[in-house]
Amino acid sequence: MLLRLLLVALLLSPTGEAGKIIEGHEVKPHSRPYMAFLRYQISQKSFICGGFLVREDFVLTAAHCLGSSTSVTLGAHNIHQQERTQQVILVRRAIPHPDYDSKNLVNDIMLLQLTRKANLTSAVSPIRLPWRREPVKPGMVCSVAGWGRLGVNDPVAEKLQEVELEVQRDEQCSSRYKDYNNNTQICAGDPRKRKSSFKGDSGGPFVCNGVAQGIVSFGQLNGTPPNVYTRISSFLSWIQKTMSHDNLQGPD
Ligand SMILES: *[C@@H]1O[C@H](CO)[C@@H](O)[C@H](O)[C@H]1NC(C)=O
Ligand SMILES: *[C@@H]1O[C@H](CO)[C@@H](O)[C@H](O)[C@H]1NC(C)=O
Repeated sequence: MLLRLLLVALLLSPTGEAGKIIEGHEVKPHSRPYMAFLRYQISQKSFICGGFLVREDFVLTAAHCLGSSTSVTLGAHNIHQQERTQQVILVRRAIPHPDYDSKNLVNDIMLLQLTRKANLTSAVSPIRLPWRREPVKPGMVCSVAGWGRLGVNDPVAEKLQEVELEVQRDEQCSSRYKDYNNNTQICAGDPRKRKSSFKGDSGGPFVCNGVAQGIVSFGQLNGTPPNVYTRISSFLSWIQKTMSHDNLQGPD
């Protein structure tokens, strides 16, 4: 399968390996206060993903970022430093979408309930979700941020990077990705340019006009755009229902 998950193994070396964005640039520190850096374990190996704060006690990310012992770092710019703005919170419960399918990566969305509320500060605050089906049209310029890899063979980033990406016509993705579905996915990233999200950016937000419209899901092995993003507006009722559910208090 040609699908490439945009996640990366974290090497626990002093320099660390964490991931970046291709052809992007460093973000003005704390200008994206909703960004979350996730670390989790699968079979005793560490992985990283991006995510974003949607409420004081909930982070939204991709379902393929599911693992155990997940921690969320909010308020970070340089993820390898202990910045005073950072808040590290463990995840109480990970709730992947019940219809997530790891084979074709449909419904690649997951809510993480935090063990405690984040303190909202100038470096930590939630991002707005779309009200309903606010249209995301081809030609719109949106952006993705992450601590993922800068290039296919490059090392990973310490400081948060961002890249602007243009929404593409659905044919650009349906011709490359067999299971692409425009009702639950967004196609973005101009195939004539190299700009792309890459390994380690998985789960991060695809932001249009200050609204989180998508979630970094997958792309091609060689890193060339377009990539596929989970279309958040298709999951609003699931998000609302899940965040208001009474039995979220119980044990895992
Ligand atoms: C929020 O602030 C309180 C009081 O300063 C502190 O005890 C708590 O650890 C902070 N929470 C986080 C997630 O950093
Ligand atoms: C998906 O494509 C169909 C057919 O082109 C179109 O009618 C529909 O509005 C599209 N859905 C979204 C969410 O863009």
